[in-house]
Amino acid sequence: MKSASIKLYTLITRASLLVFLLCTISCSTKREVSLASPDENLNLLFSINKKGEMYYQLEGFKTQLIKPSKLGFLLKNDDSFSHSFKIVKTERSHKDEIWEPVWGENNKIRDNFKQLLVKLENTNGKTMNIYFKLYNDGLGFRCEIPKQNGIDEIVVMNELTEFNFANDATAWSIPANYESYEMLYRTSNLSDVKDANTPLTLRTRSGIHMSIHEANLTNYAGMTLKQTKGTSFSCNLVPWPDGAKVKAKKTLVSPWRTITVTQNAAQLIESNLILNLNEPCKLEEISWIQPMKYIGIWWGMHLGVETWTMGPKHGATTANMFKYIDFAAENNIQAVLAEGWNTGWENWGKPKAFDQVTPYADYDFDKIVAYANKRGIELIGHHETGGDIFFYEQQMEKAMKKLHDAGIRSLKTGYAGPIPQGYFHHSQRMVQHYRKVLETAAKYKLMVNAHEPIKATGIRRTYPNMMAREGARGMEWNGWSEGNPPEHHVMLPFTRCLGGPLDYTPGIFDILYQNRKEYTKWNSNDNGNSRVNTTLAKQLALWICLYSPVQMASDMIENYEGQPAFQFFRNLPSEWDTSKVLAAEIGDYYAVARKNGNNWYIGAMTDEKSRTLSLDLSFLETGKQYKTTLYSDNNQTSLDKNPTAISISSTEVNSDTVLRIKMAAGGGQAIELIEIN
Ligand code: NOJ
Ligand code: CA
Repeated sequence: MKSASIKLYTLITRASLLVFLLCTISCSTKREVSLASPDENLNLLFSINKKGEMYYQLEGFKTQLIKPSKLGFLLKNDDSFSHSFKIVKTERSHKDEIWEPVWGENNKIRDNFKQLLVKLENTNGKTMNIYFKLYNDGLGFRCEIPKQNGIDEIVVMNELTEFNFANDATAWSIPANYESYEMLYRTSNLSDVKDANTPLTLRTRSGIHMSIHEANLTNYAGMTLKQTKGTSFSCNLVPWPDGAKVKAKKTLVSPWRTITVTQNAAQLIESNLILNLNEPCKLEEISWIQPMKYIGIWWGMHLGVETWTMGPKHGATTANMFKYIDFAAENNIQAVLAEGWNTGWENWGKPKAFDQVTPYADYDFDKIVAYANKRGIELIGHHETGGDIFFYEQQMEKAMKKLHDAGIRSLKTGYAGPIPQGYFHHSQRMVQHYRKVLETAAKYKLMVNAHEPIKATGIRRTYPNMMAREGARGMEWNGWSEGNPPEHHVMLPFTRCLGGPLDYTPGIFDILYQNRKEYTKWNSNDNGNSRVNTTLAKQLALWICLYSPVQMASDMIENYEGQPAFQFFRNLPSEWDTSKVLAAEIGDYYAVARKNGNNWYIGAMTDEKSRTLSLDLSFLETGKQYKTTLYSDNNQTSLDKNPTAISISSTEVNSDTVLRIKMAAGGGQAIELIEIN
């Protein structure tokens, strides 16, 4: 572990220790109030019009980015939180500190912002608070309804927040969807986006990059965006079955609405705005939380050569688990996942289908636990719910205790199926459910990797047992659909991954499924033409490029036997001190370097075009030499005909080196740099 506890301490900068200025101004007649970012490149203006309606606007790098955009709420049978307000007080503060996450892309994060709190009251005596935090790389704001006389239940029918962009832009988005984020990204004009899930990412014509998302989504509905006109969007919250959006008792606070603003695509990825807008770690004892690499009985089912259910092709058998545990022990992999280990998979789609406690008869739970212990390998529990959260909520405690009692500290969850009674996956009820799972998991010292999750909004800072999520069109789609095109991988870092770690499950070596035998079609999306649309070198690069504290080598283990390129995964660390984006253009290419101790690992990827990138290695420590192993596409590599052709070469580099790397169409490169003492 990088650090045994989350520590907050002041940043000793240039002149002073932590600056925390607080000045309160009463300004009951004021209609406007502004705030500048610490570097003064971003400027926020909050204003109230004649009707007492609330607006914010944002300017950045001397251009208008967000035109006046509304704030407020419509409650059930009550529109009084939308108009007739006046400013009663404003409070300003400035914070500049560095904190250390338990794990992550970087081991130190600077939190430097100016805050403006606007206290409002309307003619009906209703009060509202709006918090603005302006960073050098963006804005976060949240609206609060504090305790009011005579209001016990708050039912939000609509959050009025708007994002009215000043200009058209190129946008990367997936459609708004209340159930899933597993879609391919669209590249379009912002003005052609009718609706979107967040993060929604865009680049203005002048090259400013922005991303709209939310931070600290707690006890609230997920936000989608709906076009109102041209480049104007309003917040559209995912409803309860009765149409209400958010239900609260006495007080209400929205998640932070976030607008990340940077001057290039690389800075978008290096921004820590989302994490900074979350609360510090709430868990006291965290020594059990540890990033790791894993393999699992998983891909065989997606490929249709094994089954989750018990039968002649059952994947999760005792014998198979022993083989996976042995393989992990021999290959510097810490953990093994088994899906289909428990009874109920034959009932998928029915109510109360899954029993997350009882193993199948051919999966000897105790024997497998004992063998894993003997070999020093961790097991990862799996709780598929099929979406039946009500049944899972009854079983959860018992099922998690079973894992804990067996010394297991990792859990993958799944919600593949509709939530009963008309609830949506991204509704407030589900946000509550996912948090309850996380808190119960913390009680049983379990790290969670959630599939079909609620989107990542930085909760990992507060609950560092929230390791990774899927919530994107991941590797599994390559097993049984037309697959994910090469461009998908160079969009994910700039969109989905801005929210937090993605469990994409890279590492398929049998890219064309040449070793697949006796396959049975099991998924209706499968037209018999599935494959992985990358080269082998790009599969290695994904382990670096798509950050996750839990990285899976997802292929069946026999496909790694005798493969020299697997050495990259064997050597790969799971914890990072620093990450540095080396090259980035959304939808085209991406290269990132991550540091572990004295060594660095680089991943680079391209879309469907072959490319050469020049990587400036001046970030390496001056005066040191690095033994470098390059896993690269070569002249024989062809996405269509020969995707597994790979060259492994070595060289020495230092901080003066500019490394020219060649990537085939759909390709990439993975590089290990070991400091020579
Ligand atoms: C979908 C998940 O994303 C995948 O990882 C899992 O194998 C299946 N559901 C079955 O649980
Ligand atoms: Ca492209």
